[in-house]
Amino acid sequence: MDAAKAVSLLLDPRANHDPVPAYEALHRHGPVAQVASGYYFVSGYEAVDAVLRDPGMEAYDARRLDSQWSDWRDNRAVALFADSMLRTNPPQHTRMRRLAAGVFTARRVGALREVVAAQVDEAIGELPEKAEGGVVDLVTHLTYPLPIGVITALLGVPAADRGRFRRLAEALTAVLEVRWTAEDRRLAHDAALELEDYFTHLVARRRAEPEDDLVTALAAAHDAGGEQLTGAELMGNLTLLLVAGFETTTNLLGNGIVLLLDHPAYGERLREDPELATAYVEEVLRIESPVQLTERYTSRPAVIGGTEVPADAELVLLLGAANRDPARFEAPGVFDPDRPANAPLSFGAGAHYCLGAPLARLEAQIALPALLRRFPELALAGRPTRRPRMNLRGWASLPVTLGASA
Ligand code: HEM
Repeated sequence: MDAAKAVSLLLDPRANHDPVPAYEALHRHGPVAQVASGYYFVSGYEAVDAVLRDPGMEAYDARRLDSQWSDWRDNRAVALFADSMLRTNPPQHTRMRRLAAGVFTARRVGALREVVAAQVDEAIGELPEKAEGGVVDLVTHLTYPLPIGVITALLGVPAADRGRFRRLAEALTAVLEVRWTAEDRRLAHDAALELEDYFTHLVARRRAEPEDDLVTALAAAHDAGGEQLTGAELMGNLTLLLVAGFETTTNLLGNGIVLLLDHPAYGERLREDPELATAYVEEVLRIESPVQLTERYTSRPAVIGGTEVPADAELVLLLGAANRDPARFEAPGVFDPDRPANAPLSFGAGAHYCLGAPLARLEAQIALPALLRRFPELALAGRPTRRPRMNLRGWASLPVTLGASA
């Protein structure tokens, strides 16, 4: 299979269940494949890492959107993300990132350890009641509610409102896909309007009665005025924090559960020794990257993985392929939590490195061993199905039988 064929296979919705054959073909081709004029797919670990850390590479921002899509501002979802950290470049990105890092502190994440442990216990404790005919869907009853419970606790979104976010986040994250349909755009637009309206009211409430949460802290950063955070940026970043921290973590948890059930000897070891969770979660992140790709643009001519790339070229950075690059990882298709120097690129690298990485890791490190310990006989009730997404890779449903509870 040549590189062009591999890319079209990768982008074919029917290939969602398994991008690996396309990644392997790209690796055989080399770290960078030109697909069309000014359009490149980067699959090599070193090349992806170098691009992400290179200040000469730009994120997909409003200026790029202007050059590609004249009425993108009419779609609220696209416009909201364009005002967030993810889709901006310096100096705007640097200012927002500094502010967000100042409120999304290690102290706040550390303080969440008990919140996460309590939410995990509660969700796992309720699983037997959720079983129908002996089968429970872990997506509905664990991997979705846990991240939404944690991120809403951190943001300061009242627990009673959590129910509506699954639908909104699912609609909004279509923006992050390489391909999306007219229907996806419409749903994303409507979801963005609904979420913006929600956050506008919540910000007003927190201004009147401040709490120790991110909504209060970010609203205060906006209200401080000057070079702080504009109103549009406040909305863009609240939306980003809610949706970026949610579906991605759901996918990490679901991918981890299936991998551990598929590799019972490793599941057994983790059950015996929850301290292994750190290494296990890194290996889950590597082999089933919850975010499979991101993009950058060259601001000037560059040499990437030995390929000369002109200015203004679009680079699709395949994080999921980089994590399976045989030049970086021995036997990359093998799930091996003992692999040395495991450093997957699943949270990106460089200036846009995932702000929520410590939180996502914490959730998975607590939830995976806790589930296995509570239900030693946990087993898949049939093969789960993949979500119909290329980028955000996870399971649509995860039916299991719990067995006896410990
Ligand atoms: C950025 C992945 C969870 C908030 C990113 C990026 C990746 C990523 C790959 C970089 C995108 C780029 O460079 O273009 C993931 C994965 C997660 C996860 C795989 C779960 C397993 C979270 C959580 C939060 C979060 C829990 C927040 C609570 C963010 C934010 C950015 C980001 C705010 C933008 C940072 C910036 O542009 O400076 N994430 N993420 N993520 N993530 Fe995450």
